[in-house]
Amino acid sequence: MDASASHVVTIDGPAASGKSSTAQWVADTLGWQHIDSGSLYRAATWARQRQAGSPEGWTEASVVAAAANVSLRPEARAFYPVAGDLPIGDAIRSVEVTADVSRVARMPGVRAWVNERVREAARGRDVVVDGRDMGTVVFPGAPLKIWLVADPWERARRRLTQRLERRPSDEEIAAETDEIVQRDARDATQTVQAKDAVLVDTTYLTQPEQVERIVALARAVVQKR
Ligand code: CDP
Repeated sequence: MDASASHVVTIDGPAASGKSSTAQWVADTLGWQHIDSGSLYRAATWARQRQAGSPEGWTEASVVAAAANVSLRPEARAFYPVAGDLPIGDAIRSVEVTADVSRVARMPGVRAWVNERVREAARGRDVVVDGRDMGTVVFPGAPLKIWLVADPWERARRRLTQRLERRPSDEEIAAETDEIVQRDARDATQTVQAKDAVLVDTTYLTQPEQVERIVALARAVVQKR
């Protein structure tokens, strides 16, 4: 691999398509770092929720102000959102944050804030970045862009298995499928497939298989450069 240049691989796709866990695994295999852009949208939402007012009344300025002390901290394998010096941790994955995050992600000022943090983190590093618009808006020149998709039912089944740590019932999967399809609809404008993205449909792939595929693609483009 060319050791002198820094590299970016983007992984975008709809809700719960496995972008973050796949991106982390790909980054680990390549010895690169992972940046999860969604973690910043979630951290901004979390920060605003800690202040007064119901979500319907949130202004863009109040969300940007609430997020002002949130930044991305580099660690060995990945970047994590911190508030001041304190790691935010799993609080950003709560049901409450998930319910309000699409509203926050539609605010142009918040998108500009996230994009700046992500570009800054990536500067001069080898990174795998995941989100909705990494390959179109944030890194349009990335040499490898992945568009990661899976059937909604399968996405719901995987997310529930992870959350409940047991096999979910069909009724539970059906309810979660509805949630996921609703969130896809709320996120539709900011979820954009790059024209030069490689489509990876993971519905019938195991995670090791999809990781292997993306790593092979990454190695191929890095060697060519
Ligand atoms: O839960 P999931 O992995 O699908 O989403 P996430 O990556 O944690 O992102 C949470 C939310 O942030 C999404 O539902 C989008 O509203 C928003 N997002 C975005 O608009 N653009 C990105 N590049 C990443 C996330």
